[in-house]
Amino acid sequence: MRIPVFAGNWKLNKKSAEACELARKLDQLLGDVTDAEIIIAPSFTVLSKVCETLSGSRIFLAGQNCFWMEEGAFTGEISPGMLADSGCNYVIIGHSERRQYFSETDETINLKVINALKSGLKVILCIGETLQERESNETFPVLERQTRNALQGIPTEDTQRIIMAYEPVWAIGTGKTATDEQAQEAHSFIRKLLSEIFTARESDKIRILYGGSVKPENIMGLMSQSDIDGALVGGASLSADSFAAIVRNGK
Ligand code: PGA
Repeated sequence: MRIPVFAGNWKLNKKSAEACELARKLDQLLGDVTDAEIIIAPSFTVLSKVCETLSGSRIFLAGQNCFWMEEGAFTGEISPGMLADSGCNYVIIGHSERRQYFSETDETINLKVINALKSGLKVILCIGETLQERESNETFPVLERQTRNALQGIPTEDTQRIIMAYEPVWAIGTGKTATDEQAQEAHSFIRKLLSEIFTARESDKIRILYGGSVKPENIMGLMSQSDIDGALVGGASLSADSFAAIVRNGK
């Protein structure tokens, strides 16, 4: 049985007071949930404070990105070990906004995945096709390329520290969700791919999240699909009530 995961990606939002307030409210609303894993990804600068706010809580923290080197002359970067030191158990890697605006490539994403795992973090690895790629029937080849490249050299024993997130770029922040069937089709393709990269047994256990305009109203349909194990939520995770409703409706 795969335990559902609901992760809130706060992106470039919430300074410390607001971030701690949101974390506190989420803990109040979701503190009793034991049958789902709940993760939030605030910005780097508030991680330690949010970690203190959540002390004793069941809500996990994630970084929104990391560098692949642990230390050295890399001005402005944050290492996986620094995220762990700030209270993170997880890191989101390969988000489409990182690929699109910060020139991340399959190769740098692979380095990040390898080194985040080495530092003991768990990884939420994002993949997804653009609208243009979908319209030119390239969805599956794109998902295959992104997945195979990102997971190159990852030992089978590390697979259970990876969560996949399928996020069609055209559905992120646009209000356009993939239909339940479109999402399931992609998730089932990804699961088959994971069984080829690792083993069928491992692939069966890996959680695959859907992301892209997830809301309390559409989570139930998505979660009714056999290969959808949770959600990576952007906009709707910025309000405690809507994120809590997503978790409650979806789990
Ligand atoms: P959205 O973002 O829920 O605002 O579409 C999802 C994401 O970028 O992870």
